[in-house]
Amino acid sequence: MLHERLIDALGADAVKTAPEDLAVYAFDAYTTGRLPAAVVLPRSTQEVSAAVRIARDCGEPIVPRGAGTGLCGGAVPTEGGVVISFARMNRVLAFDPARRRARVQPGLINLDLSRHVAASGLFYAPDPSSQKISTIGGNVATNAGGPHCLSYGTTVNHVLGLEVVDERGDVFHTDVDELGYDLTAALVGSEGTLGIVTAAWVRLMRVPEAVRVWLATFPDVESASDAVSAIVAAGIVPTALEMMDRIAAQAVEAAFHAGYPTDCGAVLLIENAGFEDDMNACESALARIARERGATSWRTARTQAERDALWAGRKGAAGAMGRISPNYYLQDVCVRRSTLPKALHAVDEIARTYGITVANVFHAGDGNLHPMLCYDKRDRTQVQAVIESGNEILRAAIALGGTVSGEHGIGFEKREAMTEVYSTADLATMARVRDVFDPARALNPEKIFPSGAACPEVKPQRP
Ligand code: LAC
Ligand code: ZN
Repeated sequence: MLHERLIDALGADAVKTAPEDLAVYAFDAYTTGRLPAAVVLPRSTQEVSAAVRIARDCGEPIVPRGAGTGLCGGAVPTEGGVVISFARMNRVLAFDPARRRARVQPGLINLDLSRHVAASGLFYAPDPSSQKISTIGGNVATNAGGPHCLSYGTTVNHVLGLEVVDERGDVFHTDVDELGYDLTAALVGSEGTLGIVTAAWVRLMRVPEAVRVWLATFPDVESASDAVSAIVAAGIVPTALEMMDRIAAQAVEAAFHAGYPTDCGAVLLIENAGFEDDMNACESALARIARERGATSWRTARTQAERDALWAGRKGAAGAMGRISPNYYLQDVCVRRSTLPKALHAVDEIARTYGITVANVFHAGDGNLHPMLCYDKRDRTQVQAVIESGNEILRAAIALGGTVSGEHGIGFEKREAMTEVYSTADLATMARVRDVFDPARALNPEKIFPSGAACPEVKPQRP
């Protein structure tokens, strides 16, 4: 019945029902879920509405899906349901260079947007490392960040309005320029639990006049972290302040030959964008601070090719881990920048206790850590050690006043951890918001909220 009705409404080529097709939509970059009951590939908002209505009639939940690059199971079906893939809704619908905005479909690949507007001297700022493949819709769902969100902000700062299909299949719009509740902000980061985004107006920025990229090496991650805090304390906010430890740099070099030193304890990748006239002063201030904090070398990327190679290495860091480990688990926690040395120390201790190799690559300027725990999934002892050390890293971040995700989201993976950062009242309020948008909890169920999330049942760790 479900299949026939979907095929009637969307056409046979837009509906997948064979197990081997469904399997392709049952995983993300973190985990594998259950096979969905069907996958649809709509071409328009009307087709999304139709699919939602049919799924609802048939009692099936709905799981919206971009490129499936998420790292916490947000786009993974956990109880069957209808996966709505936006692979065919991937166009730029309108581009207004004068007002520096574009209206795009959710399946548009992040980097394709910047390519589309480049000739007008514009770009789309949020740049998750997955930007060559991840989609604007997925970025909106997770409020994606990226190295440049240090100065440009995350996705929520770049979305101006949304077109959304609600749980009944009706369409509504949000607009940050209009009065009333800012529903755009509520929708961004809601991981598909409040509505299904079918179009977004996004803000574009001018390509800066000048960009410089520097590499500083340090004996260890602690001294590099001190330099990061000192840079920001001096009133300088570079466009990006990224760090890699030795193991991460070695993996990146093995994969990309990007020019990262592999014989130091930590590498700091610093980028500043702005006016050419300001660059020399900025460079001397940064180099001085780095030296004062123990930098062992300082290098300026001389050419665009060199800058591109360094960024390709940084953004490919997670993928490069395959060079040194059969499997890795990528954690995402956030702490105050000033507590970075303590957080890194804690990660190191935890890894040591469990006998796990850990590589760190992260958004140091944001205090957003990504410890990558190496293991071999064929070895059950290692799998258990990784699960436990991953949880301990979460606890360590919380103990330092930090939080359980910097930018990847909550999804399926971290929903139980929500009780460690939010009180019962906090979660109950979020659940009430959800109930207004999606009373049947048909939109991406089992995500964000702890299990048994009739919230009064949630036992808070923190009063
Ligand atoms: C990064 C992704 C994993 O920072 O968030 O490369
Ligand atoms: Zn990241």
